[in-house]
Amino acid sequence: MKKIKIGVIGVGRIGKMHIKNISNLRDMFEIVSISDPVNPKLAEIAQEYGIKNYYQNYQDVLNDDIDAVVIASSTDTHAEIITAAAQSGKQIMCEKPIDTDIDRIKKVLKIIDDCGVTLQIGFNRRFDHNFRKIHDYVVNDVVGSPHIIKVSSRDPEPPSYDYIKVSGGLFSDMMIHDLDMVRYLSNSEVTEVYAQGTVLVDSEIGKLGDIDTAIVSLKFANGALGVIDNSRQAVYGYDQRAEVFGSKGQAFTENDKDSNVELDLNDGGHLDKIPYFFIDRYVQAYIDEFKEFYNSIVNGTKPMVTGLDGLRAVQLAFACKESLEKHEPIKLNFD
Ligand SMILES: NC(=O)c1ccc[n+]([C@@H]2O[C@H](COP(=O)([O-])OP(=O)(O)OC[C@H]3O[C@@H](n4cnc5c(N)ncnc54)[C@H](O)[C@@H]3O)[C@@H](O)[C@H]2O)c1
Repeated sequence: MKKIKIGVIGVGRIGKMHIKNISNLRDMFEIVSISDPVNPKLAEIAQEYGIKNYYQNYQDVLNDDIDAVVIASSTDTHAEIITAAAQSGKQIMCEKPIDTDIDRIKKVLKIIDDCGVTLQIGFNRRFDHNFRKIHDYVVNDVVGSPHIIKVSSRDPEPPSYDYIKVSGGLFSDMMIHDLDMVRYLSNSEVTEVYAQGTVLVDSEIGKLGDIDTAIVSLKFANGALGVIDNSRQAVYGYDQRAEVFGSKGQAFTENDKDSNVELDLNDGGHLDKIPYFFIDRYVQAYIDEFKEFYNSIVNGTKPMVTGLDGLRAVQLAFACKESLEKHEPIKLNFD
């Protein structure tokens, strides 16, 4: 099995998790270097995972003898680092979103095309076993033509105020995963969105100009209708459910739990608690997205989540924001 030599750029919350997952895929990858300008534990992390090089400057990673990079740095650095990595011929796995400026994303995608490298975007939920199965039932016509697509996605707690200030808002930061998910589950393109949003969890979030609760209704090119609901705070954990209702039936998934066992006692029924947040809930999906990245590199195939998917999700998030501001539905016509 050919081993891909890889560098990880950005060693924060998600970068550290990727390092751990990639290290466990020993037959597929060898992590040669990591970089982060401020993480004081870089040397320690390198030592823990047997990584030869660690740098503050990502350019040093690109100068190493590597085939691919993972970009897990802050969002505002993605466009620059993707460009530099593509121009040095590296295959690229980049966290979402590619950028928060649509023209800049389009420029980045053109560079990717010109350089002929792979760009996979970190929409990890597409690799979740439940959502993937629903998608497959749609693609294989098991549920028939999709009529209604529903996604519920609620975080256990809001992020910090500092995070919210630079997050780009709920649609671009949080719902972006769900906007990608409805495209994936419907196997179609969104043609219209109508967004409603409000502040019910924490009034400070409203003062920062954001919302913490939202519902978006959608229309799809294949005629289906859809709805996404988001909350920044579900007191019972990380609530992630989806459903496709079609002409031949429906496919839906409840939350993943440690078990589906129901314990009935004299005070009622009890089920296992749902996972607290994304790192626990999507363990398998975060690993499988790297298996996909590996396969797309060695087989020269398109990854399951492309740069175009990354662009579409940002375009949809922007349309939702516009809809909320104008109190009207926004039509989308992708060229
Ligand atoms: N797919 C998912 O489920 C998921 C979940 C969380 C975050 N994300 C995305 O991952 C990215 C990182 O998020 P996070 O939560 O890990 O943030 P974080 O702030 O914990 O980590 C970001 C790291 O990037 C580093 N960094 C900044 N500029 C850099 C540069 N030029 N070169 C190298 N490193 C640099 C920072 O020092 C920091 O350590 C964001 O784009 C975010 O949207 C994706």
